[in-house]
Amino acid sequence: MTAKPKISVLFVCLGNICRSPLAEGTFGAVVAERGAADAFLLDSAGTGAWHLGSAPDPRSIAIAARHGVDISRQRARKVTAEDFDRFDLILGMDRSNVDELRRIAPEAAPRKIHLFLDFAEGRQTDVPDPYYGGPEGFADVYRMVRTASEALAGKLPARAGGAESGQASSMT
Ligand code: 4NP
Repeated sequence: MTAKPKISVLFVCLGNICRSPLAEGTFGAVVAERGAADAFLLDSAGTGAWHLGSAPDPRSIAIAARHGVDISRQRARKVTAEDFDRFDLILGMDRSNVDELRRIAPEAAPRKIHLFLDFAEGRQTDVPDPYYGGPEGFADVYRMVRTASEALAGKLPARAGGAESGQASSMT
């Protein structure tokens, strides 16, 4: 039997050190809890290049660790043109991330690009940038990405465990 194709998801924020690494790690934890980690290929990236090669912000690492998730080995990178080919879904944390993704995307790619909370939960709500705030902002971000990750995991076609895959068009 041939392996079913993985669903690839790219989480995107501005700096790729606060929100999107936390979203990648949290969604990864949710699908692992459901025994579906092998069905997904996950990554994160930023639309900005200030922090290339950096580990996530220590406040993101700390809130993830408090919930049993290690994101310390992630390294920041910038969104590339290839990402629009490689990933099935590209989820921006806020509307400015989504606007920037749509601006730089090749013509066929915009249907892959969504606001994370809108795609997951049907809410036109940003995951707010916590970079210049205090630790409570990171706790808020964690709660938002955890709730959205649970919704997203329930929504994406279950390709793990022999379940039939959904139509790719149902994802976009
Ligand atoms: P992120 O947060 O987009 O959630 O990674 C930010 C991190 C760094 C900066 C802005 C936002 N910065 O301006 O350096």
